[in-house]
Amino acid sequence: NPVSIAILGATGAVGTELMELLESRNFPVSRLKLLASERSVGSTLTFKGEKLPVEAVQPSSFKGIDLVLASAGGSTSQVWAKTIVDAGAVMVDNSSAFRMEPDVPLIVPEINPEAAAHHRGIIANPNCTTILLGVAIYPLHRVQPIKRIVVSTYQSASGAGARAMEEVKVQSQAILDGKEPNPEIFPYPLAFNLFPHNSPLNAEGYCGEEMKMVKETRKIFNEPDLKITATCVRVPVLRAHSEAVNLEFTSPFAVTKAREILSEAPGVKLVEDWQQNYFPMPIDASGKDDVLVGRIRQDISHPNGLELWLCGDQIRKGAALNAVQIAELLIEKNWLKSAAAMAAVG
Ligand code: A2P
Repeated sequence: NPVSIAILGATGAVGTELMELLESRNFPVSRLKLLASERSVGSTLTFKGEKLPVEAVQPSSFKGIDLVLASAGGSTSQVWAKTIVDAGAVMVDNSSAFRMEPDVPLIVPEINPEAAAHHRGIIANPNCTTILLGVAIYPLHRVQPIKRIVVSTYQSASGAGARAMEEVKVQSQAILDGKEPNPEIFPYPLAFNLFPHNSPLNAEGYCGEEMKMVKETRKIFNEPDLKITATCVRVPVLRAHSEAVNLEFTSPFAVTKAREILSEAPGVKLVEDWQQNYFPMPIDASGKDDVLVGRIRQDISHPNGLELWLCGDQIRKGAALNAVQIAELLIEKNWLKSAAAMAAVG
């Protein structure tokens, strides 16, 4: 049956991509409600050729809604989650607000679809870098357990939203015009520059983004003791993230075997041309559904180690696409049920 959907944060970078995906994937939509802040009242967005008004979110917004795709930041999700669940809707939340709550499934459909069966009205969409990493390495982990992961990220501006993407363009133009770049969303100039991820630092010196990768990967893989360390960096790229990944297995993992597995893995596209030195790049990953993986090679410093490189569209698989795939999974398995209905099932 067609589903009535509300997009919370419809005017944002992920929100507009959600609309595009619902349309292009022929998602069974009976009604689409576009919600954002007061700032957006009066604006319209086009869905299937029809102009729809953007409404300011309010308590009555979720009446009669089956599914809420939320991408308006953690604090907005915190504010509205209870209202959404009480209205009988299921919330697929892009923010980090509920990801680590024990009764909130954290889902990457290629990895742990079955975990979505036991939601209580909220399902969390993981952090973008975590999704991209997981899609690329879980197929290897499934065959031969990973002992330790060392990952370095090269993260695009899109992770900080539509206004951050605009800021990089404006700063780039300013520099080309011989002017000083003016940081507003980011703490430092990102154009012609890079900086370690600007999320809050913990006592051990890790930033929030790095700890998301650590904790969320463990939860999605259902491996609470998985060893993983991360360094997250913002780079002046618009919308695709890249990651350099070192994997240590319990025994040697043949490069040919890894290539074979990844060439058939869902959501992964192997991109390797060793003659041309051509490997995944953010410009090639942008707008694509697949995570591009390449430069798979033996780690010369460790017999059980593999190195690989990946790029993935942060707005698509890193956010909007994964959320829509979760919604498709819920429909396919008949798990799109209210918290009350799920509790009755047990
Ligand atoms: P608005 O455009 O009205 O500010 P991005 O991640 O690209 O920055 O997008 C954030 C999205 O979240 C936008 O759609 C934005 O709407 C929405 N948003 C931000 N704050 C709120 C809020 N307090 N209530 C509802 N929507 C919000």
